[in-house]
Amino acid sequence: MPLTQSDKADGIKAMYLEVLEGLQASPKRLPSKFFYDETGSRLFDAICELDEYYLTRTELSIMDACMEEICAAIGPRAMLIEYGSGSSEKIRRILDAPNDIRVYVPIDISCRFLQESAARIARRYPHIEVRPVCADFSRPFSLPHPRIATQTKTVYFPGSTIGNFHPDEAVAFLKNMAEIIGPGSSLIIGVDLQKEQDILHAAYNDARGITARFNLNQLVRFNRELGSDFDLRRFEHQALYNPQKGRVEMHIVSTDNQTVHINGATIPFRKGETIWTESSYKYTVEGFRKLAARAGFEPVTVWCDAQHFFSIHHLRVTR
Ligand code: AVJ
Repeated sequence: MPLTQSDKADGIKAMYLEVLEGLQASPKRLPSKFFYDETGSRLFDAICELDEYYLTRTELSIMDACMEEICAAIGPRAMLIEYGSGSSEKIRRILDAPNDIRVYVPIDISCRFLQESAARIARRYPHIEVRPVCADFSRPFSLPHPRIATQTKTVYFPGSTIGNFHPDEAVAFLKNMAEIIGPGSSLIIGVDLQKEQDILHAAYNDARGITARFNLNQLVRFNRELGSDFDLRRFEHQALYNPQKGRVEMHIVSTDNQTVHINGATIPFRKGETIWTESSYKYTVEGFRKLAARAGFEPVTVWCDAQHFFSIHHLRVTR
């Protein structure tokens, strides 16, 4: 399902309105979904390879150790729905293991990336019906109606992307998910765990500055797609762990007093003023179970690594 010009124009318009709203708010903020244009998606893949960024490799190691149980949790004659499918590396490990997945529904906001990776998956696993959905999964959307019959629905939501939502938003988001998949359906979700500050600080302030580029790339994207005039030499990356809130707070700092223009709007910045670009919440196993319970999910299993750096929860929508 290729994107038409008017789909694209709608996307730009929606982005413009959200960007403007965030930059006119006080304090300034941006939704973290705009990180993931093509460059942003590639930079994020590079982050996942960094020594300091323990999340991806730890999640993959848990998956490798517990794959049989994960496939059992996905269930028989399954429709597997992946929220934020990105580069599809994790899903491949699942699809390569013995499983009974009949339909695979990858959902992603980065449409070109999604189409390409869905096509690759469809070629590699010809027995599976692949039905990509290009959508912002934080907003309502509907599931496709596959040709192949299925018995169970399982959402796979890896990578601790849930950490980008504030807890109340996470509850609302999971409630919406529970409604889409229905009672008895499963959720397998990767959740980063609370840990020592130094480790968290390093993970979001890597020595090679890839995270800084990832953060600042949003401004490059707005300059290109919205015609804004952010001067990249006068903004810098900042990431701090807030232990009271259990979250990493990522900001873009204005290094000067300056003015930025976006399509007729003028946005003033004071020296040292920041745009809050991302929160990355870290949970305890119990803390996350409590949050999920508020959204109508009951715990089934949780898998963790030996260091307790990361968790993969299996939850079920309460009947
Ligand atoms: C994709 C949301 C899990 O919060 O760790 C990586 C994004 N931000 N480095 C995270 C991110 C900065 C990432 N998530």
